Amino acid sequence: MTTEIPNNVDLDHDQQLRRALAMWHPHYLDWWREAGPDGFDSSQVYLRTAISVSPEGWANYGLVRMRDYRWGIFLAPEVTDRKIGFGDQMGDPVWQQIPGEYRKDLRRIIVTQADTEPASVEQNRLLGRTAPSLYDLRNIFQLNCEEGRHLWAMVYLLQKYFGRDGREEAAELLQRRSGNPDHPRILNAFNAPVRDWLDYFCFSMFSDRDGKYQLAALAESAFDPLSRTTRFMLTEEAFHMFVGESGIQRVIARAADVMAASGREDLFELGAVPLAVLQKYINYWYTEALDLFGGEDSSNAATWFAAGLKGRFQEEDQPEHLALDQVYELRKADGAVETIAMRRAMNAVLRDAFVKDCQRGLKRWNRELEHRKLDARVYLPAISFNRKVGALAAIPCNPEGGIITQEEFARRRDEWLPTEEDRLRVAALMKPVYEPGKIASWLTPPVKGVGGKPALDFEYVRFD
Ligand SMILES: [Fe+2]
Ligand SMILES: [Fe+2]
Repeated sequence: MTTEIPNNVDLDHDQQLRRALAMWHPHYLDWWREAGPDGFDSSQVYLRTAISVSPEGWANYGLVRMRDYRWGIFLAPEVTDRKIGFGDQMGDPVWQQIPGEYRKDLRRIIVTQADTEPASVEQNRLLGRTAPSLYDLRNIFQLNCEEGRHLWAMVYLLQKYFGRDGREEAAELLQRRSGNPDHPRILNAFNAPVRDWLDYFCFSMFSDRDGKYQLAALAESAFDPLSRTTRFMLTEEAFHMFVGESGIQRVIARAADVMAASGREDLFELGAVPLAVLQKYINYWYTEALDLFGGEDSSNAATWFAAGLKGRFQEEDQPEHLALDQVYELRKADGAVETIAMRRAMNAVLRDAFVKDCQRGLKRWNRELEHRKLDARVYLPAISFNRKVGALAAIPCNPEGGIITQEEFARRRDEWLPTEEDRLRVAALMKPVYEPGKIASWLTPPVKGVGGKPALDFEYVRFD
């Protein structure tokens, strides 16, 4: 079975790894059946499969049954003579094996990242029932398959470099379940239910973008196999964020069309999503993603930076790479500034890069409204709004960042975050559209199709 696994890690000559994978693979398939996309087991999907890492042809497209998808193991090409790019051992050669003293930390880093991959598949499990078009249905399945492959990528590291501990961690990754009260996924946002396509698009925009920044920080790692795996994962991650960003953009474009034509803002009856409701989804998922970066003042972050385990986003663009004798100024909700030693503030530094990236996305979304000469805009709430993790979690704030009481937050929560009624009205819009050439009313057609095929007039998914 394992020799059919596409890979560039010389699996054929690695008996130990082959044995570990052969044990794990059937459990992975059980997990996929039980927790992966529901109801499409015999459908054929027009999917992209990673077959190599060469830039010309790393992916090929074809109709595949998802259960037959060939999850593979790929590392980005080795950089010859790569040196550690930051921290106390800067300039030393990178490691091909794990130094004993960093084993525990690296295991924790890899398991935490790994755990998010199957979680997101579990969260999306039911969304195939309500896809707005075959194009969108195909994209969510593509994402699911790639998140599955990301799990493989992390399991490869665990099984190859962590011996028995790694094999146990790999097994447990298939046992935890998103949202399961007894055995949940590690990070909060990955236990939050993704109930409809607005959730899913926002999740891909914001939570997957957290993933991009985490992977980019790990791509700097002195542990070279981790750097190479994450570098290849990043090429897939770009598509996930495209799905989220373009998905919301199409929702806004439809809302804007309907607003311009009708002069109304209560769009549910007109088959579109009111911007005020979309804004609540943005508020929710954006702030969940901010929490994923962890505490602003973190001794783990400092240790990991010093050791060369986890760097900054595009470390090579930083003016210097030691981050000693520098401070990060954290502005609290009440305007007070807390000074944190730079190495301890690496979570906040990474989060700031993420926020900037999100702001660029919002600008593109708002262009849909500007083009149609509408005054309405969507926005990102203040980073102190609705926080549960870190220094900003202590003080309740409104979306503008103004300090309010706990009572006011509770009283006005429904103005700012999705309510049960919002969700029911959104759910009522989400009727599946599975005919080539057609699309649901609540979003505009995609600008471009996939793999050279037409955007709507193609049977991206064939039901049996
Ligand atoms: Fe992923
Ligand atoms: Fe992703």
